[in-house]
Amino acid sequence: MSLILQNLTKTYPTRSGELPVLRAINLLMQKGEALAIVGASGSGKSTLLYLLGALERPTSGSYKLGDQEPFRLGDAELAHFRNRSIGFVFQDHHLLPQCSALENVLIPTLAGPAENLEERARQLLERVGLADRMQHRPAELSGGERQRVAVARALIHQPLLLLADEPTGNLDRKSAETVGKLLLEMQQQEKTMLIVVTHSPELARTLPRQMEMLDGSLIDAPGSPGSTAFQVDMPRAGGVG
Ligand SMILES: Nc1ncnc2c1ncn2[C@@H]1O[C@H](COP(=O)(O)OP(=O)(O)O)[C@@H](O)[C@H]1O
Ligand SMILES: [Mg+2]
Repeated sequence: MSLILQNLTKTYPTRSGELPVLRAINLLMQKGEALAIVGASGSGKSTLLYLLGALERPTSGSYKLGDQEPFRLGDAELAHFRNRSIGFVFQDHHLLPQCSALENVLIPTLAGPAENLEERARQLLERVGLADRMQHRPAELSGGERQRVAVARALIHQPLLLLADEPTGNLDRKSAETVGKLLLEMQQQEKTMLIVVTHSPELARTLPRQMEMLDGSLIDAPGSPGSTAFQVDMPRAGGVG
């Protein structure tokens, strides 16, 4: 099971012309790997995560996750891919305020055919340290606790790929550390792939591999231990149909 991005590009049409944000993203990851992506504000980190999460389509290039090629799918199948294969943790928790923690973790299961995942939801909440908070609504939880609910929700369908966009950006230092550790622990237990976009050098350093978004490309961050392990020869831009 691997993730392969080849010459992925994203250009936004704007009133002042085309805005190329991602110019040529190449990436190879294997099952069980975890990656931190850093980079300046506006460099395209969120854009890349939205593509990986199938929330948006690229301008060109290819994306394979295991045997799936999401961008070859129609909209309905793409939504199914997003629901089943991807877990997404946002900077803002995006929990529904009127629902309890437990109900929030179960939200992704409402989209598909009826299946009872309540026991798994309870177990996930226990594993993220919220056994005694299951009936709390988001307003009755701390910022760190809300993010832990969001992590449990992202994992409900055992996604192949867990994505987190500045997951600790709104948290105090101690909660940020807890949530950072938790993401890695859960990723290892669930054997999923993890990509974390972060401004925090502390959080980035806790992940085994770091890359930087620079000029619309992903480059290995200097000194990243994973920096040579998975290099492959990628065809030049335009070489992939
Ligand atoms: N829907 C959009 N339309 C036009 N431009 C966009 C859109 N989304 C993002 N951008 C622009 O793309 C660039 C990258 O944005 P983003 O991926 O959010 O950066 P980052 O997450 O690294 O801060 C920014 O300059 C932003 O203004
Ligand atoms: Mg962003």
